[in-house]
Amino acid sequence: MIKDELQRLRELIQLSTDLAEVKDLDVLMERLLQSARKFVNCDAGSIYIKEGDFLKFSYTQNDTQQARLKTGQKLIYNTFSVPINNLSISGYVALTGETLNIPDAYKLSSSVPFSHDKSYDESARYRTLSILTIPLKKRDNQIIGVLQLINAMDGDNNVIAFDPEMEPYVNYFASSATGALERAQLMRAILLRMISMAELRDPKETANHVNRVGACAVEIFEAWAKMKKYKQADIDKQKDVLRMAAMLHDVGKIAISDIILKKPGRLDTDEFETMKLHTIYGARLFRNPYSEFEEAARVVALNHHERFDGTGYPGHVDPFTGEAIHGNIQNGKLAPKKGEEIPLFGRIVAVSDVFDALSSQRCYKEAWTEEHVCALIRQEKGKHFDPEIVDSFFASLPNIRSVYKRYE
Ligand code: C2E
Ligand code: SIN
Ligand code: SIN
Ligand code: FE
Ligand code: FE
Repeated sequence: MIKDELQRLRELIQLSTDLAEVKDLDVLMERLLQSARKFVNCDAGSIYIKEGDFLKFSYTQNDTQQARLKTGQKLIYNTFSVPINNLSISGYVALTGETLNIPDAYKLSSSVPFSHDKSYDESARYRTLSILTIPLKKRDNQIIGVLQLINAMDGDNNVIAFDPEMEPYVNYFASSATGALERAQLMRAILLRMISMAELRDPKETANHVNRVGACAVEIFEAWAKMKKYKQADIDKQKDVLRMAAMLHDVGKIAISDIILKKPGRLDTDEFETMKLHTIYGARLFRNPYSEFEEAARVVALNHHERFDGTGYPGHVDPFTGEAIHGNIQNGKLAPKKGEEIPLFGRIVAVSDVFDALSSQRCYKEAWTEEHVCALIRQEKGKHFDPEIVDSFFASLPNIRSVYKRYE
């Protein structure tokens, strides 16, 4: 018994330490739910984030539904909001700040104010039985969201009720998860503010654009890394860094005049030469060589317009001095980077940036259809884009469509 308890506590400390290292909000929600579900051994779970008087259903996992999909494919789900009041289970928990342990959602006592919303089960062909719902509470008792764990399982995968003895442990986990979530939310907000300043666009549109480029880059990376048989722990670590670095790919546009940035028509040659400098300006913002995140952000900003066949920009330049690196000069100009001279994250964001730029309307162009965009990406395989990255892009396209729905 004491050994069990020690073991649990050790596991909890490890989980909390791991969470504290994750910086990106989406990566954190994924990791947080995985850890919580593994800790209590349950089939499914969801995270709700508070937005005003509502809880937004922000992330979910479900092993039973996942098993119906092809390997590598991700669950597609709709986000929705529930009002914070005592009529729903999650709303009740957010309102009262109490953990709620329900052994059977279909046999609720008539004395409780809330009811179980069966529509999710019906549309998902799923049977929810036990539900453990925990508030994500800050030190000052403010609620930032709700963690919901669904269908606890015994050793033979039979669905059982959640053990009430686990509640204190799960509550402890929730409190460290809350700290990590707050930090990641703050980080996301700061990044988005930085990027909207740089792009001079409508902040909402910018947020969606950069979230899509980041999410798409992560999906491509994951497909690529799995093909290369990377260890999951390495993939997770890199995803976190790439997600944020990809969001910042165009942050160097802050140094480009808005006359060029917002020009409604095509850029002329001089204007385009100026525009190209956004890669170098972006790289200059990230000097700290000791931070993996800054390193990745610098690499992405500098390399996202390089082309696999060596016709991209800016080429072999040291962004801080503006000089060629190691005498890389060709015909009096900077030598171009090609193939694997272009860092992996640059080759990946090249695809996710163009995919998103073409799929969206810009001040200088209309949105293209997905079919048209995919045709261009296929056509540029081995020219603009790394062929392996193009393959990984198509392999992860169902997942990319699914994340796009969240950032429309
Ligand atoms: P962005 O809007 O984020 O676009 C990123 C990349 O997507 C472009 O890099 C290009 O490779 C691809 N792309 C975007 N629109 C099109 C298109 O209509 N056709 C094709 N084939 N590819 C497209 P690129 O060309 O190096 O441009 C870098 C940035 O320069 C763009 O970032 C945008 O901010 C600006 N820009 C490029 N061309 C124009 C233009 O004609 N007018 C204006 N106002 N801005 C432009
Ligand atoms: C909720 O917690 O409000 C929805 C989940 C459920 O009722 O099963
Ligand atoms: C454009 O076509 O508007 C700019 C993008 C490009 O030239 O590749
Ligand atoms: Fe760019
Ligand atoms: Fe871009």
